[in-house]
Amino acid sequence: MTSRSLFLLPGDGIGPEAMAEVRKVIAHLNDKHGTDFVTDEGLVGGCAYDACGQAISDADMEKAMAADAVLFGAVGGPKWDPVPYEVRPEAGLLRLRKDMELFANLRPAICYPALAASSSLKPEVVEGLDILIVRELTGGVYFGEPKEIIDLGNGQKRGIDTQVYDTYEIERISAVAFELARTRRNEVCSMEKRNVMKSGVLWNEVVTATHKARFSDVKLSHMLADAGGMQLVRWPKQFDVIVTDNLFGDMLSDVAAMLTGSLGMLPSASLGAPDPKTGKRKALYEPVHGSAPDIAGQGIANPIAMIASFAMCLRYSFDMVAEAERLDAAIATVLGNGLRTGDIMSDGCTKVTTAEMGDAIVAAYAG
Ligand code: NAD
Ligand code: IPM
Ligand code: MN
Repeated sequence: MTSRSLFLLPGDGIGPEAMAEVRKVIAHLNDKHGTDFVTDEGLVGGCAYDACGQAISDADMEKAMAADAVLFGAVGGPKWDPVPYEVRPEAGLLRLRKDMELFANLRPAICYPALAASSSLKPEVVEGLDILIVRELTGGVYFGEPKEIIDLGNGQKRGIDTQVYDTYEIERISAVAFELARTRRNEVCSMEKRNVMKSGVLWNEVVTATHKARFSDVKLSHMLADAGGMQLVRWPKQFDVIVTDNLFGDMLSDVAAMLTGSLGMLPSASLGAPDPKTGKRKALYEPVHGSAPDIAGQGIANPIAMIASFAMCLRYSFDMVAEAERLDAAIATVLGNGLRTGDIMSDGCTKVTTAEMGDAIVAAYAG
């Protein structure tokens, strides 16, 4: 079997704690299922800043570019609040996304049956929920220029961020959303704010044109992003695939995370375009949550978002669909058996640590 290279970037806070549980899954696959994952590890975020003054070193950036897939934990924390903007922990993640051209961020929000009662919403609102947010990841206000604070010289300063989208960026992200919809319930809802933003007008135009030209078999609807946020908490099951820009996607996916019971449940895949010659695509897999400084170091974080991100890696980078499904099923089994980390704890369930949750998922995978 050909070796598959994984570059691990655990990062800060609960990142390394969650990554330790994914290592157990990788070791199990290698030991018992004949896979040949080869792992290497680097530094990203605050720990990289402490080591080399950058949020990710050029050497680790090269390793990320060369790997078959990157697994990313989380970055950031109050320790690095005073650090200059350009080298803040988050800059490491943004550089990875930009330099690897990971324009398509897939954030599935699935409510496992056992967790319907853990959501802050009524069980009937979230039971059976299975939606996919497709977030544009390398454009918009995150990267548009100018991006600066200027001194106006009168005791005032001006902070500027610029929302920019070109046709090709909207076209390629909407194509990803339409293609994925075809493998699901065949519906896409595009969210923007064309009522106030020029980039929203263009977004709406390009999504509509891409749909007409290449994906007219898919059902397309449009929603203003603020109303979309409201609909996500009112009746989320109306959605199949949501496609939206970088900033709206960031916010709406945190909202969607809570529908599933906890931010600690939501995985993601960040994908580049397939190479025209090899068909391979650059990819990074990361939980949607951050470094959770409030619980870091206590061994109580929920590792499911990180483990489910590895399931997405098996599916999208290695075409190991059966193994991905088996890993997702192992997560469902463990939750069905009543095991819970603190963030998803409810009456009658058994509270477990991060490591116990990881062990239980590996055991359920092993069957
Ligand atoms: P956060 O996601 O770190 O935490 C928000 C809340 O959710 C906290 O109460 C936390 O304890 C809880 N939570 C998050 N993940 C959890 C898990 N796996 N298990 C149990 N509880 C969990 O967001 P924040 O507090 O706004 O940000 C903290 C730092 O993380 C900031 O520096 C931010 O920039 C960074 N951040 C990083 C990423 C990333 O690396 N991908 C994503 C979001 C935020
Ligand atoms: C996310 C995070 C990141 C983002 C930060 C850490 C740069 O919030 O992945 O959701 O804003 O994209
Ligand atoms: Mn976010």
